[in-house]
Amino acid sequence: MGQSGSVVDALFANSRLAEVYDPLDPDRSDLDAYGAMVDQFGARRVVDLGCGTGTLACLLAGRGVSVVGVDPAAASLAVARRKPHAEKVRWVHGDARATAGLAADLVTMTGNVAQVFVTDDDWHTTLRAIRTALRTGGRLVFETRDPARRAWEGWTRAVT
Ligand SMILES: C[S@@+](CC[C@H](N)C(=O)[O-])C[C@H]1O[C@@H](n2cnc3c(N)ncnc32)[C@H](O)[C@@H]1O
Repeated sequence: MGQSGSVVDALFANSRLAEVYDPLDPDRSDLDAYGAMVDQFGARRVVDLGCGTGTLACLLAGRGVSVVGVDPAAASLAVARRKPHAEKVRWVHGDARATAGLAADLVTMTGNVAQVFVTDDDWHTTLRAIRTALRTGGRLVFETRDPARRAWEGWTRAVT
């Protein structure tokens, strides 16, 4: 992770691509589990790290949760800012290092955010920064792929 933030994938940083992120993946039932955890933990202050186009952040804000949405891709944040309830979210252009002192009950990393941290250094930097965003007893929840399933083998069609 560079000092200015992260190397951001073009899909999230390019405005034309950021615009099609939601239409290409309209089923966000994957976020239901995060909504349920917010309820289960009684979280009132949430940081959505790698919020992208802000679907979860806006959803939670609409439920009265105080939300900070953080992402290094400005183009994705621009999409997020146009969604219902976006005006209730605090949007931060940056990475985990921008979250210090927020005293959050919960930090979330949804979708493939965890996959952007590919070195031990990136993970250490990110986890340390997340720790500073959480109140004592606060939680980090995220999902990640299971490399043992070798999903990538089904992504590319064989060339014959
Ligand atoms: C697959 S998208 C997921 C977006 C959103 N969480 C969702 O579920 O739709 C991955 C996001 O991680 C962001 N990202 C890239 N590097 C990051 C970093 N160092 N810290 C936080 N987010 C990062 C990207 O800009 C992108 O928005």
